[in-house]
Amino acid sequence: MTIEAVINVDLDGPRINRHLYGHFAEHLGRCVYGGFYVGEDSGIPNEGGIRLDVVGALRALSIPNLRWPGGCFADEYHWQDGIGPKDRRPVMVNTHWGDVVENNHFGTHEFMALCELLGAEPYISGNVGSGTVREMSDWVEYLTRAGDSPMARLRRANGRDEPWRVRFWGLGNEAWGCGGGMTAEHYAQEARRYGTYCRDHGDNKLYKIAAGANGADYAWTETLMKQIGHLGCQHIGSTPYHALSLHYYTITGPSWEEKGSATDFGTGEHYATMLAAARVEQVLAGHAAVMDCYDPSRSVGLVLDEWGTWFDVEPGSNPGFLYQQNTLRDALVASVHFDLFHRYADRLVMANIAQTVNVLQAMILTDPDSAAMVLTPTYHVFAMNRGHQDATALRVDLRTPLPARPVGDATLTTVSMSASRKDGRLLVSLSNLDAEAAADVTIDLRGGAVTAVEARILTSSALQDHNTPQAPSAVAPREHDGVVLSDGRLRVHLPAHSFVTVTGAL
Ligand code: AHR
Repeated sequence: MTIEAVINVDLDGPRINRHLYGHFAEHLGRCVYGGFYVGEDSGIPNEGGIRLDVVGALRALSIPNLRWPGGCFADEYHWQDGIGPKDRRPVMVNTHWGDVVENNHFGTHEFMALCELLGAEPYISGNVGSGTVREMSDWVEYLTRAGDSPMARLRRANGRDEPWRVRFWGLGNEAWGCGGGMTAEHYAQEARRYGTYCRDHGDNKLYKIAAGANGADYAWTETLMKQIGHLGCQHIGSTPYHALSLHYYTITGPSWEEKGSATDFGTGEHYATMLAAARVEQVLAGHAAVMDCYDPSRSVGLVLDEWGTWFDVEPGSNPGFLYQQNTLRDALVASVHFDLFHRYADRLVMANIAQTVNVLQAMILTDPDSAAMVLTPTYHVFAMNRGHQDATALRVDLRTPLPARPVGDATLTTVSMSASRKDGRLLVSLSNLDAEAAADVTIDLRGGAVTAVEARILTSSALQDHNTPQAPSAVAPREHDGVVLSDGRLRVHLPAHSFVTVTGAL
């Protein structure tokens, strides 16, 4: 089928905040321990215990920020247990994730060192569920205060003289569930209280993010917006929080107990997954509409700080570790999300995929039995889309009729697309979600001429294909010769189940 599309290359849309390509590392399974951190005595090349192969791979993605230490873990984490000499750090039990003993060897200093190695901004989730206001306030002081103060002195005693810069600060996580089981009204009060005492020290200005809704819980967002409005959005500088978070996972199985296999699935399950992924649009639109009522100038940010696929764990792995493989299907889930993120870039200021290494929809899988590491198909989508970071979103109009597949009572549009411009370059991302049929897209580029066009494609013979230490490049991007530029139009061939990026000089 041939689809007509129009991109107005001279009509500027909103800036695509680079933080939409953010990441998430929780003390969960093998994300931190074995994933990012192997300890200084490991035979795997490391700096201060941090895996250098993982850092190298993520640097190539220009990851803008890393959220830590949770997730649910954040609301049982006591930061003072994770500072000072490692042999004197108390141990705890990670009750949320696998009931395993946590030795606190990866703490504040290790996390900040990781962010420095990655060139990424830290996004710290503070503990509201089982912590105290003082504990959170002290953590901010420890990290960000110069000069003399009790926490600055403690930091220096632990070997760090200068404060770090920390902008993104989460006021708890999933307060409606693992973060304390609170009502929206109760949490809104708590967020105001905690937010009040998270101070800006010197010129370090915090961007405080209140724990937001689960999926389509718009009432939660409305309650938080009413509370923020109470202080007046016009005084955003003194508000207890600047943004609201939101979590939306792509879950397709018939029940929570049967979410389906990450690798063993049929075409019907593939389409159900694509439909669930595309539904993030409805959720973003719903929350954005509520926020618009209270904040028409869009000064309050929406932060989707957990998103991605959630399948059954790999057979034989610890059910509390959320380890799943990652196929071409996951890559298409990611590409669809990014198209929608670009469309909502005027409200959505950050998004964090869950999670970066070894957990849920990971970029990187490390082998527990060797030094091997593989890049997943999802990693390659982040790499191919990297040029959208901080670019200007361009409006894309797909002309009907669009190719579609029925999924239960719903209909899935099987072609997805977005475009941006930056530094004189056009970047167009196109996904064909159809399991069997190819599509051809003819793009009318209005308002500008594009030259020196190049294209890359991520596809494979089967949607279930994935990368392993034995076959690390089973799904990897390559040059795509299915793009023709003529008469100012781009003709792009999209094989079944493929993701294509096209770049050119504007
Ligand atoms: O990402 C895994 C978990 O999912 C997080 O800890 C929690 O916030 C969410 O429910």
